[in-house]
Amino acid sequence: MPFYHHLGEVPRKRHTVWRQPSGELYHEHLMGSFGFSGPESLLYHLRPPTSILHSRTLRELSWQHDADLTLRMRHFDLNKVAKSKSCTLDRTPILFNHDVALQIVEPTATDEFLYRNAQGDEVVFVSSGAGVLQSQMGELPFQSGDYVVIPRGILHRFQLGEQPTRFLIIESTGQIRPPKRYCNQFGQLLEHSPYCERDIRLPTELPVYDQTGEFQIVVKHQNLLTEVVLDHHPLDVVGWDGFYYPWILSIHDFEPITGSLHQPPPVHQTFEADGFVVCSFVPRLFDYHPQALPVPYNHSNVMSDEVIYYANDEFMSRKSIQYGSLTLHPFGLPHGPHPGRAEASIGKQRTEELAVMVDTFQSLNVSRQALDFEDPDYGRSWLPGKHVD
Ligand SMILES: [Fe+2]
Repeated sequence: MPFYHHLGEVPRKRHTVWRQPSGELYHEHLMGSFGFSGPESLLYHLRPPTSILHSRTLRELSWQHDADLTLRMRHFDLNKVAKSKSCTLDRTPILFNHDVALQIVEPTATDEFLYRNAQGDEVVFVSSGAGVLQSQMGELPFQSGDYVVIPRGILHRFQLGEQPTRFLIIESTGQIRPPKRYCNQFGQLLEHSPYCERDIRLPTELPVYDQTGEFQIVVKHQNLLTEVVLDHHPLDVVGWDGFYYPWILSIHDFEPITGSLHQPPPVHQTFEADGFVVCSFVPRLFDYHPQALPVPYNHSNVMSDEVIYYANDEFMSRKSIQYGSLTLHPFGLPHGPHPGRAEASIGKQRTEELAVMVDTFQSLNVSRQALDFEDPDYGRSWLPGKHVD
């Protein structure tokens, strides 16, 4: 997130002599992006972050996609995904392309290791649960409804608290950022943005772990999970400053933009990345023109696949949708409200819907694992009498 933050102690001048009470130098560590031209932070460790005892391949992540590419509407019931132990090792891929991957996980235990995704940024949508994100840049409490944004390269771990925990993980090849049109030339969020800097939560505590021994981290790189063992606790940062760190925006702090007539999907945009956008549908007043038709018109996403994850049971234009549903409306087919939804919406004052939408500019693959949760009748649910309330 491009605004300056710092925690702990740092020397007055960067790249200068700064010693620990023992006389040893602190170990400076620049974490930069885009070849030292993008956002970066400067960290100070008790011990060198380079002291690796050994490493080994844990697992290859070779995702297979559904061989049946027949164009059709898809609906997956993610409530059927089994609970698993690890937030990191047990993720189930649902949809993916070269720009973005959507995964679901319901972890029951905090990982013993720290994790670094070295090949992509992650937005972890907390569909349920609460706890604390531990990271090299400090601790950040999270709760249901949070988008936890973790730029690549940052070591972290989700300490689980309130259960059950369900994370929808949006993994991005490009950097996750606020939409450019929300920001001025200096990066400040503008008045028309649905959220501002006050809504963004940053790490607030920086515990320092001064421990030696064998400490495991897991790194995702080249679609491999690699175990790396360090000779010290990796959360040994005494201070840092810069523009590169994990941050949180709650979907409940996204202030909806409404109008007298139906507002198009871009008003819901929350993040942009390369090849896709993330939007938030939140409780809001409906359109206030006396003849307004609040549900969306039929529309053709001629340049994007549309994915919606339903974070509660209400969605104004759909029937047979429940908390935990995920739909894929691919380009090539128009989509719109289910039968009866347009009539039913007339005169309605507000909606309580809560959903996360991901629109991708290239087609998505459906993973083979997702077929276990698929509703095969969804594609015919727009026919009169073919759906259940
Ligand atoms: Fe749509």
